[in-house]
Amino acid sequence: MLFGCKEVGVILVALFLMACAGTQTIPEPDSPGARLFKERCTKCHGLPGPKRHTPEQWDHLLVMMDGFMQEKGMQFPAQERKLLQDYLHRNGR
Ligand code: HEC
Repeated sequence: MLFGCKEVGVILVALFLMACAGTQTIPEPDSPGARLFKERCTKCHGLPGPKRHTPEQWDHLLVMMDGFMQEKGMQFPAQERKLLQDYLHRNGR
């Protein structure tokens, strides 16, 4: 037999965990930056993958998103922007 019972169990658990993690996996999922990213950046559109843009592009995009958020009367405090910026610089393209 190719797999014993134990192996099949491990594979099923792995698949289950992957399904629970949601559709999008991002780097450092438990860091404050990643959590903020998931919370703040999914209000108007889906979560963009950090690898989609370079750090320079992220700087520009964060300024743009700040503008969109202000139009909607949403707060985007400077320290949150800094945290996201650091996160996206570490994990950008
Ligand atoms: C207030 C609503 C709003 C919030 C909150 C918001 N965005 Fe956006 N975002 C937009 C809009 C509107 C567009 C489309 C702009 C366009 O295409 O001209 C956009 C487009 C983008 C794009 C470019 C399109 C793409 O898919 O590559 C990226 C990247 C992006 N947002 C990242 C972010 C990040 C990072 C955050 C969190 C800091 C964020 N957004 C939060 C409104 C928002």
